[in-house]
Amino acid sequence: MQNERRPENMERIVTEQQAQAFIDSEIAKVRDQVGDKKVLLALSGGVDSSVVAALLIKAIGQNLVCVHVNHGLLRKGEPEQVIKVFRDEMNANLVYVDATDRFLDKLAGVTDPEEKRHIIGSEFIEVFADEARKQDGIEFLAQGTIWPDILESETGIKAHHNAGGLPEDLNFELVEPVRILFKDEVRIVGEALGLPSGMVNRQPFPGPGLGVRCPGAITRERLEAVRESDAILREEFDKNGLAGKVWQYFTVVPDFKSTGVTDGKRTFDWPVIIRAVNTKDAMTATVENIPYELMMHLTQRITSEVPGVNRVLYDFTPKPSATIEYE
Ligand code: XMP
Repeated sequence: MQNERRPENMERIVTEQQAQAFIDSEIAKVRDQVGDKKVLLALSGGVDSSVVAALLIKAIGQNLVCVHVNHGLLRKGEPEQVIKVFRDEMNANLVYVDATDRFLDKLAGVTDPEEKRHIIGSEFIEVFADEARKQDGIEFLAQGTIWPDILESETGIKAHHNAGGLPEDLNFELVEPVRILFKDEVRIVGEALGLPSGMVNRQPFPGPGLGVRCPGAITRERLEAVRESDAILREEFDKNGLAGKVWQYFTVVPDFKSTGVTDGKRTFDWPVIIRAVNTKDAMTATVENIPYELMMHLTQRITSEVPGVNRVLYDFTPKPSATIEYE
């Protein structure tokens, strides 16, 4: 239903049973809205779009066309997980687009953070629109809009991008099956739909992805150092019980080198900066107290496993004065 509003008296979804009731009623609504027509969805692998995909697969099966655009700035293993969960396990009609070269070529030499964001955002719309035009008979566009998005756009805090800012020739009607839910409810619905816990409970990840964690002009080598060090940090946080406790954690590889020594030979390599913060609303943030032993272990692993890196630093700065991301 378009423009649906969360009923004032709607109970917060906290149990699997409530989630199941929501899913059943939403499936009926979606079938009613789209009939036997096709629906397109940009499936990033984030919580909201993944839950929308799982719900729509249940409702309309192969009439949902999911497009997963890999902009080359995703974390290690993310595109593979999207393909495994949705194409292999849920039998989704999934189009996978590896647009890495297209994005990285456009970003080459671009140092300004907002220009980088703009390029990534507009290129994403172009790639998605190209795929949409290749599909026949699409009449609907599904979006992972959630209730806080609607509230924030109404109070003027944040613009809510209707129809994802697609060009005018792609004039689709919107399908927004989690529109009246809060984030915690979306996660419970996702679990009830059978999505892996790691997917529905994952930490926030910015749209421009690792691009804003590779400050300055992005190069493939430095981006790879961000990706590999991030994978090690996530693995160690998982193993050490910090993954569910810390709100957001990631690595950054700044664009400068320093002198080091390995096996008696001089090196001139990048540092990796670790960031691990806690917050309620991302407006302010405090820094996690990571145990010294874990810090030493992370340093040892990152400096020995990530090519081009010879130092590890920990960012102790809360927000303010720093922001959470580096760009
Ligand atoms: P900052 O760096 O502003 O980040 O303290 C606050 C939260 O917002 C996320 N973030 C973004 N998310 N697109 C997004 O989708 C962006 O351009 C972007 N910039 C920051 C950041 O990861 C943190 O959770």
